[in-house]
Amino acid sequence: MTKVYEGKVAHLAINQLSLEVEKGEFIAVMGPSGSGKTTLLNIISTIDIPTSGDILINGTNPLHLAKNDLSLFRRRQLGFVFQDFNLLPALTVEENMVLPLTLDGQPVELMKEKVREIAEHLDLTAILEKRPSEISGGQAQRTAIGRALIHEPAIILADEPTGNLDSKAAKDVLEILTRVNQVSQTTIIMVTHDPIAASYCDRVLFIKDGEFFNEIYKDDRRQTFFQRILNVLSLLGGNVNDLSTIRLS
Ligand SMILES: Nc1ncnc2c1ncn2[C@@H]1O[C@H](COP(=O)(O)OP(=O)(O)OP(=O)(O)O)[C@@H](O)[C@H]1O
Ligand SMILES: [Mg+2]
Repeated sequence: MTKVYEGKVAHLAINQLSLEVEKGEFIAVMGPSGSGKTTLLNIISTIDIPTSGDILINGTNPLHLAKNDLSLFRRRQLGFVFQDFNLLPALTVEENMVLPLTLDGQPVELMKEKVREIAEHLDLTAILEKRPSEISGGQAQRTAIGRALIHEPAIILADEPTGNLDSKAAKDVLEILTRVNQVSQTTIIMVTHDPIAASYCDRVLFIKDGEFFNEIYKDDRRQTFFQRILNVLSLLGGNVNDLSTIRLS
C-alpha cells in the first residue's frame, strides 16, 4: 500500500509497502521518527485509508464494508492500545474496561463476569472503582489492555504501548501481551522505539521513509535477538551506543 498525505506540500508517508502477518504472530514495527509507523497502524486499523493498495483482514477488506458493519468489525476484531492510554477520565477502571461491551449493548451480568476474569489476569481487581487520575501509568496501561481484550479481538494494534512507562511497568505490559499472544493466539502488531520491547516479539519489521528496510525473526535467546535488533537499528541510523551494553533481565 501507499499513503500520501495531501496538503500544501503532499507527503509520501508509506511507499509501496507490502506486509503479511500470520494469525497468532507477535510483530514489532520499528523505524525512525516520521518513518510512517503510526500511519501504517492507522491504516491497518481502518482509522485512516490508503491512497492505493488494499488491506485484508482474515480475507475481509474493511473498506468494502458499509459504515455500520465497519464500526462493528472494528470493535469486534480489533483491540487498540496507545502510548497515552486513552482512558476516559470520568469513568472508573471497570467502566473503561467494559466500554466496548457497553457500546454493544451486552447484558450487565456478562460484562461483570468478563471484567472479573480480565482484572484478575491484569492485577487490577483492587482498583476497579478508581478513576484514571487515581492510578499509576502501569495500571492505566493495563486497564487500556483490559479494554482492548474484553472483546477477545483477533488483532491487537499497539502504538508505543510502553512509551510512557518505567521499565518495571513496561516489562509487566510486555509479559501480558506475550501471554495473550500465546494463550489466545491473538495477533499483535506493536510499534515501538524500544529494542527491549521489540525483543519480546516473533519478528521485527524495520521501516525507513515509509519503505521496507529489513526484517528479522527471533531466535532461541532473547539476548541475541536483542543484539540483532540493535545491529539493524545502527544500520538505520541514530545513536544506539548507549544501549549496546544493556543486558536483558
Ligand atoms: N495527518 C497528516 N497530514 C500530513 N502529514 C502527516 C500526517 N500524519 C503524519 N504525517 C507525516 O507522515 C510521516 C509519517 O508520520 P507517522 O506519524 O506515521 O510517523 P511515525 O513513524 O509514527 O513517527 P513517530 O516515531 O515520531 O511516532 C511524517 O513525516 C509526518 O509528518
Ligand atoms: Mg508514531
